[in-house]
Amino acid sequence: MVEIRVGYSHTHLMKGVILAGGKGTRLYPLTKVTNKHLLPVYNKPMIYYPIETLTGAGIADILIVSGRGHAGHFLELLESGKDFGARFSFAVQEEAGGIAQALALAEDFADGGKIAVMLGDNILEDDIGPAARAFEAQTRGARIFLKEVENPRSYGVAEIDGEKIRHIEEKPQEPKSNLAVAGIYLYDEHVFEIVRNLKPSARGELEITDVNNVYIERGEMYYELLKGWWGDGGESFESLLEASMLAARKEKKR
Ligand code: G1P
Repeated sequence: MVEIRVGYSHTHLMKGVILAGGKGTRLYPLTKVTNKHLLPVYNKPMIYYPIETLTGAGIADILIVSGRGHAGHFLELLESGKDFGARFSFAVQEEAGGIAQALALAEDFADGGKIAVMLGDNILEDDIGPAARAFEAQTRGARIFLKEVENPRSYGVAEIDGEKIRHIEEKPQEPKSNLAVAGIYLYDEHVFEIVRNLKPSARGELEITDVNNVYIERGEMYYELLKGWWGDGGESFESLLEASMLAARKEKKR
């Protein structure tokens, strides 16, 4: 049988998941009536950037997980994915219970395969294609991306020892390094079993950092250093503005 999909470039790479839920309280009142990931970053809605990062790496079968209230807006904006050379599926996180809880909704979609998970507010310059292909060749485990930052307290912070990561601490008061964990994660199929066994953190959420620490304890976590600019557009008004300025500079260079 020959399968023809219009506008969807078939690829053997893993599937992708973009997490675009949450209340976006740090950007209030911008997020009072809309979802953070739909806010403008220069000339595009924020979520376009992670979509382009994944499709640019050849990951074109993408599940978008959003929260209640705005799910219809994502569908209206993004449609089937045809305009991005991708195929989109949509899922709704009923209540904001953390990044890892949102990820659990992707289990059926992942269908026993590896996945690339990206937070919908992360904007990066690097091409993650080579890392994604290296991960495809890796038999098991996970791979994350680290970036040197000036304000590590706002992020998950990795303590490394050469090639190995020792531990990740979520938003530590006294960071052990200035290496932030970017919001893009490559996981094997065991990630869902790890999420099922998580306990909520002090802030009552299932934390992605706890998922990563399980892989570290199993000796199955690898990392890449991001070379180009990386920003979490949802972290503060300053990071949102910075993301827009970077996007504008890149657009003008084309
Ligand atoms: C999340 C993660 C954090 C990571 C950050 C990257 O934090 O919990 O480990 O460094 O994304 O953007 P959040 O921005 O959801 O508070």
